[in-house]
Amino acid sequence: MAHETEKQNAAAAAMEFVEDGMTIGLGTGSTAKYFVELLADEIADGLIVRCIETSNQTRDLAHSLGVPLIPFEQVDRIHLTVDGADEAGPGGVLIKGGGAALLREKIIANASDHMVVIADPTKDVQSIGAFPLPVEVTPFGYTITAKKVHDALVAAGVERPRVELRKAPRSTELLVTDGGNYILDCHCGLIPDPPKAAAFLSGTPGVVEHGLFIGIARTVIFGTETGARIIEY
Ligand code: 5RP
Repeated sequence: MAHETEKQNAAAAAMEFVEDGMTIGLGTGSTAKYFVELLADEIADGLIVRCIETSNQTRDLAHSLGVPLIPFEQVDRIHLTVDGADEAGPGGVLIKGGGAALLREKIIANASDHMVVIADPTKDVQSIGAFPLPVEVTPFGYTITAKKVHDALVAAGVERPRVELRKAPRSTELLVTDGGNYILDCHCGLIPDPPKAAAFLSGTPGVVEHGLFIGIARTVIFGTETGARIIEY
């Protein structure tokens, strides 16, 4: 397993932001999993929180560990969300969605008072775009939408983007997200102007959401072998 100590240390550092009585958004992925496990330990020791999950995968994990979940409809305030990222760049700009959960992750992070990102140091980048940008699209018209997404990225200054439909793991079938949509993985190499790319993608019919998180994360924690490096925005 890669970078497990760094992921665990990032998750442990995020526990410092947890307070009794909070409503907490639970992220998705291998780093967020460590946070859910640590939270479950604290809950077993008496911590009182209620949580909301960003994916079916995290819902199942929370259930298995006895972490209390509430339906989103019953949530009036989310105090804290802790989630992973595929890239975290200057200004706290993120690429997310490697685990195909970007839509719910963005809704929940954006609705939170405080988003804390936890990641191993390989996610710490100086420019955004080496990781293929996930874009969630409706199944209806997805082939045309894929072309329009390509054009939107070119218009935003990306050189020769390659847009690929994501397949389900170990399958030739297309991956279907928890929301019933498809994912386009956009190989950009470099996204020179992330706000412009975000605006152009959001303006493309058929795009449900994209994996650029801009101005949402307030804290980014990179785990190290011995602790964590915390950046506040
Ligand atoms: C899921 C995500 C994950 O947070 C992201 O892929 C990072 O995952 P990991 O911690 O396993 O590297 O955005 O949609």
